[in-house]
Amino acid sequence: MKILMVCLGNICRSPLAEGILQSKLPDNFIVDSAGTIDMHEGKNPDHRSIKTGQQYNVDISKQKSRHFTAQDFEEFDHIYCMDQNNLKDVLSLAKNDTQRNKVSLILENNEEVPDPYWGGMNDFDHVYQLLDQACERIAIELKSQLKEPSKK
Ligand code: 4NP
Repeated sequence: MKILMVCLGNICRSPLAEGILQSKLPDNFIVDSAGTIDMHEGKNPDHRSIKTGQQYNVDISKQKSRHFTAQDFEEFDHIYCMDQNNLKDVLSLAKNDTQRNKVSLILENNEEVPDPYWGGMNDFDHVYQLLDQACERIAIELKSQLKEPSKK
């Protein structure tokens, strides 16, 4: 099963979401991340996200930012967005309900993961806590989905 995390720049929030979820799942789950803008293409995550991950033993230092494309709907089973803008931008590229149904916000109850880019280390830590909780729930859901017989 393949899971994609999406934020704006793919340097702060979604790299952490990728690292955290991967750390909670066995290797037969592939987790990746992408951004809705291509401004940071090829760059490693923001040093503040790398440092925050390191504090919790999640190494995201080797990730490279990339742009979200319509092709990702073909490749991934689930696409988790950090905020409403990411959700809107991703859904604007979906061609049908099968693709739209793969997309959701990563938090429950329409909550957003706030963009820490203009903030301080405490904002990055807050993002980590939100993502850690969300990924714990998602890892349990995904593992149980994989065990269920196919509905096709
Ligand atoms: P991210 O944070 O979407 O969590 O990666 C941001 C990264 C870069 C910018 C904004 C947010 N930016 O404006 O360049």
